[in-house]
Amino acid sequence: MTERIQELIAEIEALHAESAEQAEQLRIAYLGKKGKVTILFDDFRLLPGEQKRELGQILNKLKNLATEKIAGLKNSLSQVADNSDKPDLTLPGESMRLGSRHPISITRNEIVAIFNRIGFVVTEGPEIEDDWHVFSALNFPPEHPARDMQDTFFIEKSPDILLRTHTSSVQVRVMEKQQPPIRIIMPGRVFRNEAISARAHCIFHQVEGLYIAENVSFADLKQTLLFFAKEMFGEETRIRLRPSFFPFTEPSAEMDISCNLCGGKGCNMCKYSGWVEIMGCGMVDPNVLESCNIDSKKYSGYAFGMGIERIAILKHKIKDIRLFFDNDIRFLKQFEAVL
Ligand code: PHE
Repeated sequence: MTERIQELIAEIEALHAESAEQAEQLRIAYLGKKGKVTILFDDFRLLPGEQKRELGQILNKLKNLATEKIAGLKNSLSQVADNSDKPDLTLPGESMRLGSRHPISITRNEIVAIFNRIGFVVTEGPEIEDDWHVFSALNFPPEHPARDMQDTFFIEKSPDILLRTHTSSVQVRVMEKQQPPIRIIMPGRVFRNEAISARAHCIFHQVEGLYIAENVSFADLKQTLLFFAKEMFGEETRIRLRPSFFPFTEPSAEMDISCNLCGGKGCNMCKYSGWVEIMGCGMVDPNVLESCNIDSKKYSGYAFGMGIERIAILKHKIKDIRLFFDNDIRFLKQFEAVL
Protein backbone atom coordinates (compact mmCIF):
# COMPACT_ATOMS: atom_id res chain seq x y z
CA MET A 1 0.00 0.00 0.00
CA THR A 2 2.88 2.34 0.77
CA GLU A 3 4.04 1.95 -2.80
CA ARG A 4 0.59 2.70 -4.13
CA ILE A 5 0.51 5.82 -1.99
CA GLN A 6 3.88 6.99 -3.33
CA GLU A 7 2.65 6.41 -6.88
CA LEU A 8 -0.44 8.47 -6.28
CA ILE A 9 1.55 11.30 -4.67
CA ALA A 10 3.68 11.56 -7.84
CA GLU A 11 0.57 11.35 -10.00
CA ILE A 12 -1.30 14.01 -8.08
CA GLU A 13 1.62 16.40 -8.04
CA ALA A 14 1.81 16.25 -11.83
CA LEU A 15 -1.90 16.88 -12.34
CA HIS A 16 -3.01 19.76 -14.51
CA ALA A 17 -6.29 20.93 -16.01
CA GLU A 18 -7.20 23.19 -18.92
CA SER A 19 -10.66 24.07 -17.73
CA ALA A 20 -12.78 24.17 -14.61
CA GLU A 21 -14.67 21.12 -15.92
CA GLN A 22 -11.48 19.10 -16.26
CA ALA A 23 -10.51 20.04 -12.70
CA GLU A 24 -13.90 18.82 -11.48
CA GLN A 25 -13.40 15.53 -13.33
CA LEU A 26 -10.03 15.13 -11.59
CA ARG A 27 -11.72 15.71 -8.24
CA ILE A 28 -14.18 12.91 -9.01
CA ALA A 29 -11.39 10.61 -10.28
CA TYR A 30 -9.35 10.99 -7.09
CA LEU A 31 -11.66 12.11 -4.31
CA GLY A 32 -15.13 11.00 -5.52
CA LYS A 33 -16.94 7.95 -4.07
CA LYS A 34 -15.01 5.62 -6.35
CA GLY A 35 -11.97 7.86 -6.66
CA LYS A 36 -8.43 6.50 -6.47
CA VAL A 37 -7.76 8.03 -3.04
CA THR A 38 -11.17 7.09 -1.62
CA ILE A 39 -10.65 3.46 -2.62
CA LEU A 40 -7.36 3.41 -0.71
CA PHE A 41 -9.29 4.42 2.42
CA ASP A 42 -11.62 1.42 1.90
CA ASP A 43 -8.59 -0.90 1.71
CA PHE A 44 -7.06 0.82 4.74
CA ARG A 45 -10.08 -0.04 6.91
CA LEU A 46 -9.28 -3.78 6.43
CA LEU A 47 -5.68 -3.47 7.68
CA PRO A 48 -4.53 -4.65 11.15
CA GLY A 49 -4.27 -2.04 13.98
CA GLU A 50 -0.52 -1.20 14.02
CA GLN A 51 -0.26 -0.70 10.28
CA LYS A 52 -3.29 1.57 10.46
CA ARG A 53 -1.58 4.10 12.75
CA GLU A 54 1.44 4.42 10.51
CA LEU A 55 -0.39 4.42 7.18
CA GLY A 56 -3.26 6.52 8.45
CA GLN A 57 -1.03 9.60 8.67
CA ILE A 58 0.40 9.12 5.16
CA LEU A 59 -3.05 8.48 3.76
CA ASN A 60 -4.37 11.67 5.33
CA LYS A 61 -1.46 13.58 3.85
CA LEU A 62 -2.29 12.08 0.44
CA LYS A 63 -5.89 13.13 0.77
CA ASN A 64 -4.91 16.68 1.80
CA LEU A 65 -2.45 16.84 -1.08
CA ALA A 66 -5.13 15.80 -3.59
CA THR A 67 -7.72 18.20 -2.11
CA GLU A 68 -5.31 21.16 -2.14
CA LYS A 69 -3.89 20.39 -5.57
CA ILE A 70 -7.33 20.16 -7.19
CA ALA A 71 -8.66 23.21 -5.34
CA GLY A 72 -5.53 25.05 -6.52
CA LEU A 73 -6.20 24.04 -10.11
CA LYS A 74 -9.82 25.25 -9.88
CA ASN A 75 -8.72 28.47 -8.32
CA SER A 76 -6.14 29.32 -10.97
CA LEU A 77 -8.62 28.51 -13.73
CA SER A 78 -11.27 30.80 -12.30
CA GLN A 79 -8.63 33.54 -12.02
CA VAL A 80 -7.88 33.21 -15.72
CA ALA A 81 -11.59 33.57 -16.41
CA ASP A 82 -11.75 36.71 -14.22
CA ASN A 83 -8.80 38.26 -16.04
CA SER A 84 -10.64 38.16 -19.33
CA ASP A 85 -12.90 40.98 -18.08
CA LYS A 86 -9.98 43.18 -17.16
CA PRO A 87 -7.99 45.33 -19.63
CA ASP A 88 -5.07 43.51 -21.18
CA LEU A 89 -2.15 45.78 -20.35
CA THR A 90 0.14 43.96 -22.73
CA LEU A 91 -1.84 44.99 -25.83
CA PRO A 92 -0.26 47.67 -28.06
CA GLY A 93 -1.79 51.16 -27.64
CA GLU A 94 -4.64 52.35 -29.88
CA SER A 95 -3.48 54.95 -32.38
CA MET A 96 -5.13 58.38 -32.07
CA ARG A 97 -7.41 59.46 -34.93
CA LEU A 98 -6.73 63.07 -35.80
CA GLY A 99 -9.35 65.24 -37.45
CA SER A 100 -8.62 67.06 -40.69
CA ARG A 101 -9.49 70.42 -42.17
CA HIS A 102 -12.25 70.66 -44.75
CA PRO A 103 -10.90 70.99 -48.33
CA ILE A 104 -12.60 74.41 -48.58
CA SER A 105 -10.72 75.63 -45.50
CA ILE A 106 -7.47 74.15 -46.78
CA THR A 107 -7.88 75.94 -50.12
CA ARG A 108 -9.00 79.21 -48.51
CA ASN A 109 -5.96 79.20 -46.21
CA GLU A 110 -3.68 78.54 -49.14
CA ILE A 111 -5.13 81.41 -51.21
CA VAL A 112 -5.01 83.78 -48.26
CA ALA A 113 -1.40 82.80 -47.44
CA ILE A 114 -0.27 83.57 -51.01
CA PHE A 115 -1.77 87.06 -50.91
CA ASN A 116 -0.51 87.63 -47.35
CA ARG A 117 3.00 87.23 -48.69
CA ILE A 118 2.53 90.25 -50.98
CA GLY A 119 0.95 92.50 -48.37
CA PHE A 120 -2.78 91.76 -48.57
CA VAL A 121 -4.60 91.76 -45.21
CA VAL A 122 -7.65 89.58 -44.45
CA THR A 123 -10.95 91.39 -43.92
CA GLU A 124 -14.40 89.89 -43.40
CA GLY A 125 -17.95 91.21 -43.63
CA PRO A 126 -21.53 90.11 -42.87
CA GLU A 127 -23.35 87.39 -44.83
CA ILE A 128 -26.71 89.14 -44.34
CA GLU A 129 -26.43 92.38 -46.27
CA ASP A 130 -28.46 95.26 -47.64
CA ASP A 131 -29.05 96.25 -51.23
CA TRP A 132 -26.56 99.14 -51.02
CA HIS A 133 -23.48 97.06 -50.17
CA VAL A 134 -24.23 94.15 -52.53
CA PHE A 135 -25.59 96.07 -55.53
CA SER A 136 -26.14 99.85 -55.50
CA ALA A 137 -22.70 100.98 -54.30
CA LEU A 138 -21.17 98.53 -56.78
CA ASN A 139 -22.75 100.32 -59.72
CA PHE A 140 -25.50 97.76 -60.43
CA PRO A 141 -28.30 99.59 -62.24
CA PRO A 142 -31.76 99.23 -60.59
CA GLU A 143 -33.01 96.81 -63.25
CA HIS A 144 -29.91 94.57 -63.24
CA PRO A 145 -30.89 90.87 -63.45
CA ALA A 146 -28.65 89.91 -60.49
CA ARG A 147 -31.07 91.82 -58.26
CA ASP A 148 -33.80 89.46 -59.35
CA MET A 149 -35.40 87.03 -56.89
CA GLN A 150 -34.14 84.25 -59.16
CA ASP A 151 -30.55 85.03 -58.31
CA THR A 152 -30.76 86.53 -54.87
CA PHE A 153 -32.18 85.18 -51.61
CA PHE A 154 -34.13 88.05 -50.09
CA ILE A 155 -34.83 88.08 -46.38
CA GLU A 156 -36.92 91.27 -46.43
CA LYS A 157 -38.17 93.55 -49.18
CA SER A 158 -38.04 97.39 -49.04
CA PRO A 159 -35.71 98.05 -47.53
CA ASP A 160 -34.00 95.08 -49.15
CA ILE A 161 -32.22 92.73 -46.76
CA LEU A 162 -30.61 89.79 -48.49
CA LEU A 163 -27.93 87.10 -48.38
CA ARG A 164 -24.86 88.45 -50.16
CA THR A 165 -24.42 87.02 -53.65
CA HIS A 166 -20.71 87.88 -53.74
CA THR A 167 -17.97 89.03 -51.39
CA SER A 168 -17.63 92.32 -53.32
CA SER A 169 -19.91 93.79 -50.62
CA VAL A 170 -16.95 93.68 -48.23
CA GLN A 171 -14.99 96.02 -50.56
CA VAL A 172 -17.71 98.62 -50.12
CA ARG A 173 -17.72 98.24 -46.32
CA VAL A 174 -13.95 98.77 -46.16
CA MET A 175 -13.80 101.66 -48.66
CA GLU A 176 -16.59 103.48 -46.78
CA LYS A 177 -14.51 103.43 -43.60
CA GLN A 178 -10.95 103.64 -44.83
CA GLN A 179 -9.08 105.92 -47.24
CA PRO A 180 -6.42 104.41 -49.56
CA PRO A 181 -3.97 102.79 -49.60
CA ILE A 182 -6.16 99.69 -49.20
CA ARG A 183 -4.80 96.22 -49.87
CA ILE A 184 -7.18 93.54 -48.64
CA ILE A 185 -8.23 89.97 -49.26
CA MET A 186 -11.80 89.00 -48.33
CA PRO A 187 -12.75 85.34 -47.97
CA GLY A 188 -16.36 84.43 -47.24
CA ARG A 189 -19.52 82.46 -47.88
CA VAL A 190 -21.95 83.62 -50.56
CA PHE A 191 -25.46 82.60 -51.58
CA ARG A 192 -27.22 82.38 -54.93
CA ASN A 193 -30.65 81.08 -55.76
CA GLU A 194 -29.42 78.39 -58.13
CA ALA A 195 -30.48 74.81 -58.77
CA ILE A 196 -27.98 72.45 -57.12
CA SER A 197 -26.03 70.33 -59.59
CA ALA A 198 -22.58 68.81 -59.99
CA ARG A 199 -21.29 72.24 -61.11
CA ALA A 200 -23.34 74.75 -59.09
CA HIS A 201 -24.54 75.13 -55.53
CA CYS A 202 -26.72 77.71 -53.80
CA ILE A 203 -24.02 78.17 -51.13
CA PHE A 204 -20.39 78.55 -52.03
CA HIS A 205 -17.27 80.45 -51.04
CA GLN A 206 -15.35 83.29 -52.62
CA VAL A 207 -12.16 85.18 -52.05
CA GLU A 208 -12.18 88.78 -53.19
CA GLY A 209 -9.12 90.97 -53.48
CA LEU A 210 -8.91 94.77 -53.61
CA TYR A 211 -6.00 97.15 -54.04
CA ILE A 212 -6.57 100.91 -54.11
CA ALA A 213 -3.74 103.46 -54.15
CA GLU A 214 -2.30 106.16 -56.41
CA ASN A 215 -1.31 105.06 -59.93
CA VAL A 216 -2.50 101.46 -59.70
CA SER A 217 -2.66 100.08 -63.24
CA PHE A 218 -3.95 97.05 -65.10
CA ALA A 219 -0.32 95.85 -65.35
CA ASP A 220 -0.21 95.66 -61.53
CA LEU A 221 -3.34 93.52 -61.58
CA LYS A 222 -1.94 91.21 -64.21
CA GLN A 223 1.36 90.76 -62.41
CA THR A 224 -0.36 90.04 -59.09
CA LEU A 225 -2.64 87.44 -60.65
CA LEU A 226 0.24 85.79 -62.49
CA PHE A 227 2.10 85.52 -59.18
CA PHE A 228 -0.98 83.97 -57.58
CA ALA A 229 -1.51 81.46 -60.41
CA LYS A 230 2.09 80.27 -60.25
CA GLU A 231 2.08 79.98 -56.45
CA MET A 232 -1.22 78.12 -56.41
CA PHE A 233 -0.91 75.83 -59.43
CA GLY A 234 2.84 75.60 -60.08
CA GLU A 235 5.66 77.62 -61.66
CA GLU A 236 4.88 76.42 -65.19
CA THR A 237 1.31 77.88 -65.06
CA ARG A 238 0.42 80.52 -67.65
CA ILE A 239 -2.49 82.98 -67.49
CA ARG A 240 -4.76 84.59 -70.04
CA LEU A 241 -7.15 87.52 -69.57
CA ARG A 242 -10.33 87.67 -71.61
CA PRO A 243 -12.45 90.85 -71.83
CA SER A 244 -15.61 90.57 -69.75
CA PHE A 245 -18.14 92.71 -67.94
CA PHE A 246 -18.89 93.44 -64.29
CA PRO A 247 -20.83 96.55 -63.21
CA PHE A 248 -18.17 97.41 -60.61
CA THR A 249 -15.01 97.14 -62.76
CA GLU A 250 -13.97 98.87 -65.96
CA PRO A 251 -12.26 97.42 -67.89
CA SER A 252 -13.22 93.92 -66.71
CA ALA A 253 -11.68 90.59 -67.51
CA GLU A 254 -11.99 86.94 -66.80
CA MET A 255 -8.79 85.08 -66.03
CA ASP A 256 -7.95 81.61 -67.31
CA ILE A 257 -4.99 79.50 -66.30
CA SER A 258 -3.33 76.92 -68.51
CA CYS A 259 -5.07 73.63 -67.67
CA ASN A 260 -3.19 72.13 -64.72
CA LEU A 261 -4.29 68.61 -65.67
CA CYS A 262 -2.97 68.42 -69.25
CA GLY A 263 -0.56 71.38 -69.09
CA GLY A 264 -2.45 73.11 -71.94
CA LYS A 265 -2.46 70.23 -74.42
CA GLY A 266 -6.22 69.75 -74.14
CA CYS A 267 -8.19 67.28 -72.00
CA ASN A 268 -11.61 66.54 -70.59
CA MET A 269 -11.28 69.09 -67.77
CA CYS A 270 -10.43 72.05 -70.03
CA LYS A 271 -12.86 70.79 -72.68
CA TYR A 272 -9.89 70.44 -75.05
CA SER A 273 -9.20 74.20 -74.99
CA GLY A 274 -6.06 74.02 -72.83
CA TRP A 275 -7.43 76.78 -70.54
CA VAL A 276 -9.68 76.85 -67.44
CA GLU A 277 -11.40 79.92 -66.07
CA ILE A 278 -10.65 80.74 -62.43
CA MET A 279 -11.74 84.30 -61.65
CA GLY A 280 -13.22 87.65 -62.58
CA CYS A 281 -11.23 90.86 -62.23
CA GLY A 282 -10.83 94.42 -63.43
CA MET A 283 -10.04 98.02 -62.56
CA VAL A 284 -12.43 99.37 -59.93
CA ASP A 285 -15.05 101.52 -61.68
CA PRO A 286 -14.68 105.21 -60.68
CA ASN A 287 -18.41 105.21 -59.83
CA VAL A 288 -17.72 102.64 -57.09
CA LEU A 289 -14.90 104.74 -55.62
CA GLU A 290 -17.15 107.81 -55.61
CA SER A 291 -20.03 105.85 -53.96
CA CYS A 292 -17.61 105.11 -51.12
CA ASN A 293 -16.27 108.69 -50.89
CA ILE A 294 -12.90 107.94 -52.41
CA ASP A 295 -11.52 110.51 -54.85
CA SER A 296 -11.47 108.69 -58.22
CA LYS A 297 -9.24 111.42 -59.75
CA LYS A 298 -6.52 110.74 -57.20
CA TYR A 299 -6.88 107.02 -56.67
CA SER A 300 -7.30 103.97 -58.83
CA GLY A 301 -7.37 100.30 -58.03
CA TYR A 302 -8.09 96.77 -59.07
CA ALA A 303 -10.34 94.05 -57.75
CA PHE A 304 -10.61 90.35 -58.37
CA GLY A 305 -12.84 87.57 -57.11
CA MET A 306 -12.71 83.79 -57.31
CA GLY A 307 -14.73 80.82 -56.12
CA ILE A 308 -12.89 78.71 -53.55
CA GLU A 309 -14.76 75.57 -54.64
CA ARG A 310 -13.61 76.16 -58.21
CA ILE A 311 -9.96 76.45 -57.15
CA ALA A 312 -10.26 73.35 -54.92
CA ILE A 313 -11.95 71.39 -57.74
CA LEU A 314 -9.12 72.22 -60.12
CA LYS A 315 -6.35 71.70 -57.61
CA HIS A 316 -7.61 68.37 -56.25
CA LYS A 317 -9.38 67.17 -59.41
CA ILE A 318 -12.78 66.88 -57.73
CA LYS A 319 -15.68 65.95 -59.99
CA ASP A 320 -18.76 67.21 -58.13
CA ILE A 321 -19.22 70.44 -56.13
CA ARG A 322 -21.85 68.74 -53.93
CA LEU A 323 -19.10 66.63 -52.32
CA PHE A 324 -18.00 69.71 -50.37
CA PHE A 325 -21.33 69.88 -48.58
CA ASP A 326 -22.23 66.20 -48.17
CA ASN A 327 -19.91 65.65 -45.17
CA ASP A 328 -19.10 62.19 -46.45
CA ILE A 329 -16.22 61.00 -44.30
CA ARG A 330 -14.77 58.96 -47.18
CA PHE A 331 -14.32 62.18 -49.16
CA LEU A 332 -13.08 64.29 -46.25
CA LYS A 333 -10.58 61.65 -45.09
CA GLN A 334 -8.66 62.08 -48.33
CA PHE A 335 -7.55 65.52 -47.13
CA GLU A 336 -6.10 64.27 -43.82
CA ALA A 337 -2.54 64.57 -45.04
CA VAL A 338 -2.97 68.13 -46.35
CA LEU A 339 -2.59 71.07 -44.00
N1 PHE B 1 -17.96 89.57 -57.71
C1 PHE B 1 -17.69 88.87 -58.95
C2 PHE B 1 -18.51 87.59 -58.98
O1 PHE B 1 -19.05 87.21 -57.97
C3 PHE B 1 -16.24 88.55 -59.13
C4 PHE B 1 -15.39 89.79 -59.28
C5 PHE B 1 -14.82 90.38 -58.18
C6 PHE B 1 -15.17 90.33 -60.54
C7 PHE B 1 -14.04 91.50 -58.32
C8 PHE B 1 -14.40 91.44 -60.67
C9 PHE B 1 -13.83 92.01 -59.58
O2 PHE B 1 -18.60 86.93 -59.99
